[in-house]
Formats: sequence, C-alpha cells, structure tokens
Amino acid sequence: MKITKICCIGAGYVGGPTMAVIAQKCPQIEVTVVDLNAERIAAWNDADVDNIPIYEPGLADIVAEARGRNLFFSTDVEKAIDEAQIIFISVNTPTKTYGKGKGMAADLKFIELCARQIASVAKDNKIVVEKSTLPVRTAEAIKSILDNTGNGVQFQILSNPEFLAEGTAVQDLLQPDRILIGGDASAEGQHAIAALVGVYSNWVPADKILTTNVWSSELSKLTANAFLAQRISSINAMSELCEKTGADVNEVAKAIGMDSRIGPKFLKASVGFGGSCFQKDILNLVYIAKSYGLHEVADYWEQVIIMNDHQKRRFSNTIVRTLYNTVADKKITFLGWAFKKDTNDTRESAAIYVADDLINEQAQIAVYDPKVSRKKVLADLDYLESRTAAANANSIVSFENPYEACEKAHAIAVLTEWDEFVTYDWKKIYDSMQKPAFVFDGRNILDRGEMEAIGFVYQGIGA
Ligand code: UDX
Ligand code: ADP
Repeated sequence: MKITKICCIGAGYVGGPTMAVIAQKCPQIEVTVVDLNAERIAAWNDADVDNIPIYEPGLADIVAEARGRNLFFSTDVEKAIDEAQIIFISVNTPTKTYGKGKGMAADLKFIELCARQIASVAKDNKIVVEKSTLPVRTAEAIKSILDNTGNGVQFQILSNPEFLAEGTAVQDLLQPDRILIGGDASAEGQHAIAALVGVYSNWVPADKILTTNVWSSELSKLTANAFLAQRISSINAMSELCEKTGADVNEVAKAIGMDSRIGPKFLKASVGFGGSCFQKDILNLVYIAKSYGLHEVADYWEQVIIMNDHQKRRFSNTIVRTLYNTVADKKITFLGWAFKKDTNDTRESAAIYVADDLINEQAQIAVYDPKVSRKKVLADLDYLESRTAAANANSIVSFENPYEACEKAHAIAVLTEWDEFVTYDWKKIYDSMQKPAFVFDGRNILDRGEMEAIGFVYQGIGA
C-alpha cells in the first residue's frame, strides 16, 4: 500500500516531534496532527516557530521547514481520521487518579475515546498505530472497540512504541537505536506492518527496524523504561551508601560503567528521576504483575519507585538538616524546575516534590528555570493538592533572571542539569547570598573544589 496520508491524534511531547520528523523525512506524505486542545494547536500554528508549545532542541527548525508543506496542525479530528490511511494514537495515558487501579494502572479513557471516534468516522480500511505507552493488551481493547462499533471496515492495529527521550527527541527520532513495530501474524497484519516499515524506511536503515507480535512490542516499551529507571534507582541507592562511607558515587559509576557488560549510560546519581514515563510505566508494570498474581515480580519492580521517592525525600531532608534543622522563612533558590535539561516538561519533576517538602517546613522558594513559566510551577504544586493555591502562591516565586533569584538566599538547590548553570558567575552569586551560603547540587554538575574555594558550603549527591 502506498501511504500518502497520515494523521496523529495528540499533539503533545510524543505526537508533535514524531510527526514533525516523519513529515520532514517523507515530503511525499501529508501528515496532519490533531488535538482537542485548541490552544495547543494554535501554538503549533503560531507564525513565530519559537512559540510552538514544546521546547526541544532542533524542533522549531523542522517545523519551520515542513509546516504548511506537508505538516499540518488542526483541531478537526474527524476530517483527519477520515482522510488518513494510517492513524497514530499519541494521546496521554496518565496513571489513574480514581477507582480500580488508582495510583497504579494507566488511565485509558483518552485512548478509548480515540478508538470510538475512529470507529465512528472511518469509511475505509485503516491502520491504527499505538504510539502512547500502554499496558500490554491495550491493542486488543482498541481492536475490540473498533471491530464492534465501526462501519464494517477493516482495522489493523499496530504497536509502535516511542523511545525518544525529551531534550534529545529530534536526535533520537532522526537516528533511532531501533524502530519497533508489533503487529498481527495474519496476512493483513503483515501488510500493515510493511506499510509502516515503508514510512520509516525513508530514513531509518532496514537493520534497525524490528518487527514482533503486538504484545512483545507493547511489553518491550514498559521493560525498556523499567530497566532504565532501575539503573538510576540502583546508582541512587549506592549514592546514600557512598555518603556514609566516604566513597564518591561519580567515581563508582565511572568504574562500573567501564565494564562493557554494564556500560556507562544512565548511571548518573541524581535527586531522583522524573518525567512522564518512568514512574507511570513501572506502576503499570507492577499493576499488571499483581493482576496476574505475580507478587514477587510486582514487589521487585515497585522497589525502583520506592527508592526514587526516598531519594527525593532524602534531598529535602538534607537541606533542612544542614540549615540547622529549620528552613522556616528562609529563602531557598531552585535552579531548574524541568525534570531534565533541554525540555520545558515538568511532569513528575523531582523539583515539585522537593519544593512541596520544603514549603511544608515553611520555606520560601524562589525558582529560576530557563524554559518553565511561573504559571507552570504553580500549576504543578497545585496539582499535588497539599495546600490551597493561595498558600502555594505565597510560598513560591519565579524569576526570569538567575542572579535575582539567588539574591539574599540562604541556600541554592540545583534540581535540573541545565548547561547554563555551570557558566554562571558563582562568585557574584555567593556575594549576594546570606552567609554561610549553601549549595545543594542535586545533579552533581558544579565543581565542588571551585565552589568551596569561593566559600560555599557544598553538598552534592553521593559524596
Ligand atoms: C524516557 C526514556 O529514556 C525514553 O526512551 C522513553 O521513550 C520515555 O522515557 P525521558 O523521560 O524523556 O525518556 O528522559 P530520560 O532521559 O530517560 O530521563 C528520565 C529521568 O531520569 C530524568 O529526570 C533524568 O534527569 C533522570 N536521569 C537520567 C538520572 O537521574 N540519571 C541518569 O543517569 C539518567
Ligand atoms: P505525551 O507526552 O504522551 O505526548 P501529552 O500530554 O504531551 O502526552 O500529549 C497528549 C495530547 O493528546 C494532549 O495535547 C491532549 O489534548 C491530546 N488528546 C487527548 N485525548 C484526545 C482525543 N480524544 N482527541 C484528540 N486529542 C486528544
């Protein structure tokens, strides 16, 4: 089948960048990204590409090149579904906040809504591609909805998980380690797989495109994220032991990373991992394991989350303890609010939880993040529902300028590893602060020797 029209439901961190790259690499295919959120679509269509809603290095240039040529952003979901041969579902699947599986299972209501909409609109055969991270066997649920509520047309469901990491999304999409496509073993299923392989073949070498059955593909995504998160929790567990024993976790990470069986990546001790995927996917894995009665499997993976929560809490406790057991009315400046550098995404960012702990201790938090707005910072805190919105607004201020953010602060906490933080005039910052001036480096990006030479009391992670 020659693919000429693709649609993607969901113009978020996954759908937006993925479709932009497909459009750039496949000028012969018309790619339409749709979303219910009109404000988000308007931002994607903003005449100034620097105003697109997602910050990712290199993304604005790709959008500038393809938008209006073969890349379109629209709120007309039905028209896009109707016209497309391949429909990607890239809507959000947050952890459930109610009912059965609350706090663990993925909330599939957005996915189900999409499936029902596709079923009611489609007048010809469609390939439907799961792009969101989903519990294993979701494809089956989508298929059941499509087959039972549709207009008698044929649907093929493929699982094509996204492995891009935020902050490096464009690079990850242009040069993926692999593309994974799961589909049905039937002739029609294989046909659908071949059609999607054909799209990726426009820029991805054949040996990097892997095809499997649907369930292997779905489970691979959860497994990959669980393994990655587990490495971080493992090194973070060691960071606490290092602090007690006088070992340096950076040295330990380097030493073990040189073992080719272990490898050097994802061994950076930190204040804890964040992001929309790791916690959600592991909770989901735990929920699935429990639902099959596999309690040892569930407990094993749940420990990764428990360790991560401990690491965040440990960081805020260290701040309070070091500041003479009280932070009440003290100004503590957060450098960074995003869950990692080079993104404006703050979902599950450690900063939110550390701020929440410190506000409970009546600290005054000042935030500087090069890409995160005050509105977002407050929305993140309000979402926790720890206190009223007014109380949050009284406890936290955002600054556009890092030097102003640090003025008269008792302590600075580095929550995100933005490159620019390393380049600051730290002597000038030190001079403007209360003494003794403390730095809690939750990302181990600053040079301890230099900071101590300036006069800071420096505390990193795991040393
Ligand atoms: C992750 C997966 O990497 C990606 O393949 C998947 O598609 C989505 O989930 P993402 O959450 O965007 O991507 O970012 P990632 O780079 O994995 O970082 C996740 C968190 O772990 C961040 O908070 C990061 O700061 C933290 N991290 C990462 C560490 O603390 N130490 C490390 O060594 C690596
Ligand atoms: P992700 O990181 O998975 O891309 P986001 O929350 O950034 O998650 O993006 C998901 C997008 O999907 C949101 O912009 C949301 O408005 C959109 N969305 C959710 N349900 C639907 C739906 N039924 N139709 C169209 N868009 C939807």
